Amino acid sequence: KNTTPASGLPLAFHGTVIHSPSLGGLEILENCFILVDKTGTIQSLQPDVESSRINSIVSDHGYAPDVFPVKYLQRGEFLCPGFVDTHNHAPQWTQRGVGRGQALIDWLNQVTFAHEAKFADPEYARRTYASCVTGFLQQGITTASYYGSYHGEATRILADVCYEKGQRALVGKCNMNRNAPEWYRDPSIADSLHETRALIQHIQGLDPEGQLVRPVITPRFAISCDSELLSGLGTIARDHPDLPIQTHFNEEDQEMQFTRELFPEFRLEADLYRHFGLLNNRSILAHCIFLEEKEMDVLQELRCGVAHCPIANTTMQDFMVAPIREYLRRGIKVGLGTDSGGGYSSSMLETMKQAFMVSNARKMLTQGRDAPLSLAEGFYLATMGGAQVCGLEDRIGSFAVGMEFDALEVHTIGLDPPGVMSLVEEDDSIFVIFEKFLMTGDDRNIAKVYVQGRSVKV
Ligand code: GUN
Ligand code: FE
Repeated sequence: KNTTPASGLPLAFHGTVIHSPSLGGLEILENCFILVDKTGTIQSLQPDVESSRINSIVSDHGYAPDVFPVKYLQRGEFLCPGFVDTHNHAPQWTQRGVGRGQALIDWLNQVTFAHEAKFADPEYARRTYASCVTGFLQQGITTASYYGSYHGEATRILADVCYEKGQRALVGKCNMNRNAPEWYRDPSIADSLHETRALIQHIQGLDPEGQLVRPVITPRFAISCDSELLSGLGTIARDHPDLPIQTHFNEEDQEMQFTRELFPEFRLEADLYRHFGLLNNRSILAHCIFLEEKEMDVLQELRCGVAHCPIANTTMQDFMVAPIREYLRRGIKVGLGTDSGGGYSSSMLETMKQAFMVSNARKMLTQGRDAPLSLAEGFYLATMGGAQVCGLEDRIGSFAVGMEFDALEVHTIGLDPPGVMSLVEEDDSIFVIFEKFLMTGDDRNIAKVYVQGRSVKV
């Protein structure tokens, strides 16, 4: 078991640092010196430092010279914050790319539940979650908010794997006691709630301070939870006022209709989840495609977060466009989600690009009213916006003294293996290099991944 999440050694870098601390803002810090202490916290962040001054800055921070190497980043290399995936189904790892073009409920029944059901086997869970978490880390996802399967044991294993491999994660046991086959649903309400509490306890034992891994209350959606289960989960949310809550929200026409049939007393999903105590400033609402003004008012008032999943929204049966500009205008928190495997990709770079494309569609649909996302805004959603949605904005999402060092070291030239295309031309500005990484780069350009100062990419 990993007992020290951080590397145990301080880290230092000198070179280009790029982050987006506020929506629409992009800071490119050149010749920046970053010092990360051995707990993984940023101790110093100073732009425009000449290399010759570094030794004295290091000793000003109380370190003897040469106790650790400073990494000098070259042209075409930079640090940026790690990606935050606000919506991810770990047990769908094995079905990435499968089942496109189907309606949500059919896709759940015909593809998804059979994959998730395999996690009844703890050996299978350990093996598959190891490959899942490694895969996301490789692609620079330093934080993920995971739905597990309904199985308690497999979900505790998922939390262990995240902790061992050093990924920051919210981990939820998926609650679902109806509208799923008998071989894949919670056997009873008592069992569903018991396993939820057992996961919370397990994670509190594993990582008492919630340094890396935290539990998240995870009703799959109202279709798969009856009132008694939802109200039990609302009670757990009330008993643990620090815990995030995640669910799928206004994702699809049929889903919304079916929800209304099951709960005729609520016209809007916002009323439903609010009634059961599941909507508050810790809620992470995936998709949020078809919201009435009144529902947006509720999200705004309760300060709920939105997990925007543009790949899944355009991979299933329809091309569904969430009104992200409207959420941003209202100051609602928004992050990006791969929704892997509802979306075909497990990459945040791909997700960000699809967010750009869908925002162009939104501009068309609103006759030009909703401006498309800028490059800086998309990057913000993938980093700082996601950190806010996950309640981690004081720790991660951008770089500042006192924040934790969750970062990607990006290389765009001189790549290993040498056959990888170079993205950069001689006269490219740093902004253009950054733009090329976002728009044409992939995990081969992510040379190193740090979570709380620990190097986690294998
Ligand atoms: N709604 C309920 N379950 C799911 C799921 O696994 N993926 C997506 N995209 N929507 C859901
Ligand atoms: Fe989903």
